[in-house]
Amino acid sequence: MRYTGLINHYKDRLPVNENTRFISLGEGNTPLIRLENIPALLSKKVDIYVKYEGLNPTGSFKDRGMTMAVTKAVEAGSKAIICASTGNTSASAAAYAARAGIKAFVLIPEGKIALGKLAQAMIHGAVIIQIKGNFDDGMRLVKEVAEHAPVSIVNSINPFRLQGQKTASFEIVEELGDAPDYHCLPVGNAGNISAHWMGYKEYQQDGKATKTPAMVGYQAEGSAPFKKGEMIDNPETIATAIRIGHPQSWDLAHEVERESNGWFDALSDADILSAQKLLTEKEGIFCEPASATSLAGAMRDIKSGKISEGSKIVCTLTGHGLKDPDTAIAQCSDEMININPVMEEVKNAILDNM
Ligand code: F0G
Repeated sequence: MRYTGLINHYKDRLPVNENTRFISLGEGNTPLIRLENIPALLSKKVDIYVKYEGLNPTGSFKDRGMTMAVTKAVEAGSKAIICASTGNTSASAAAYAARAGIKAFVLIPEGKIALGKLAQAMIHGAVIIQIKGNFDDGMRLVKEVAEHAPVSIVNSINPFRLQGQKTASFEIVEELGDAPDYHCLPVGNAGNISAHWMGYKEYQQDGKATKTPAMVGYQAEGSAPFKKGEMIDNPETIATAIRIGHPQSWDLAHEVERESNGWFDALSDADILSAQKLLTEKEGIFCEPASATSLAGAMRDIKSGKISEGSKIVCTLTGHGLKDPDTAIAQCSDEMININPVMEEVKNAILDNM
């Protein structure tokens, strides 16, 4: 049967009915890829899978939540949606609003969103409001303005977002035959880690899995309120997607940590970028910097033994690498060879680099 998106696929587990018009772009059903080359570098026997959420329609996991949020907004008669975003949510909101025929307003931090994401929000016709501030400022404003203007918030404080995002856990359990031992994710607002935990618990309660994983959330060192144990005011990191100091799902995230026996930790920007590059060079998988935080953290915790040997680990790669071409090119620009258009120079370039 033709796959027509996660709401239709999981409609029995989502708050929709036969009269609901599904606003879908075929999201979900993303590949779970077993890493073949990186585990060998860790000198510990582990099984690592990456859930490549960058292959959703707008290139990030946000589409799982957005299909639900926009479907429910339209069902409630909303003519406009609004979000604050570090980029991916705005791209997704813009696309699903276009699909639904409603308006999207997106608040983004000026100069701090990756080029691909900005292009998406623009081309889909969202009204882009750049603010001289960061994501946390945008979020505060969105919550305030929604009380004064006819707009539905589609950030992850919208409970329908988490409902859609929990389906990633369903897919993982179905593919592996059970839950993994550990599930590692990059964390910003902590909506996604909370949604995954809901999905795993639901499948365990219904007997579709025998266990639940330890949920492990990784942040960037300059934007690590969970590691620090308190909100921070001036988050900084090259991984702009998770440049967040005041996570919206603070309490939920702590519940997840406690209930799942998981933990939060932080990685330096250098570690994040080197995991991104390792994944591209050793496995052929290109994710955006924030996404690589999950693998960077998992590798460190496997090496230290915190993640035990013999484990099955899933790392979510939340967004596609093409979202942020500038950061990718900046890492690699010195690797280019410049020649004159003559065969001899091409040949030498090949032989020198075999
Ligand atoms: N990875 C990517 C690529 C993201 O875009 C985000 C969040 C996260 C991880 C963190 O997910 O917030 O659920 O913990 N991006 C939001 C946005 C904030 O506006 O696109 P979280």
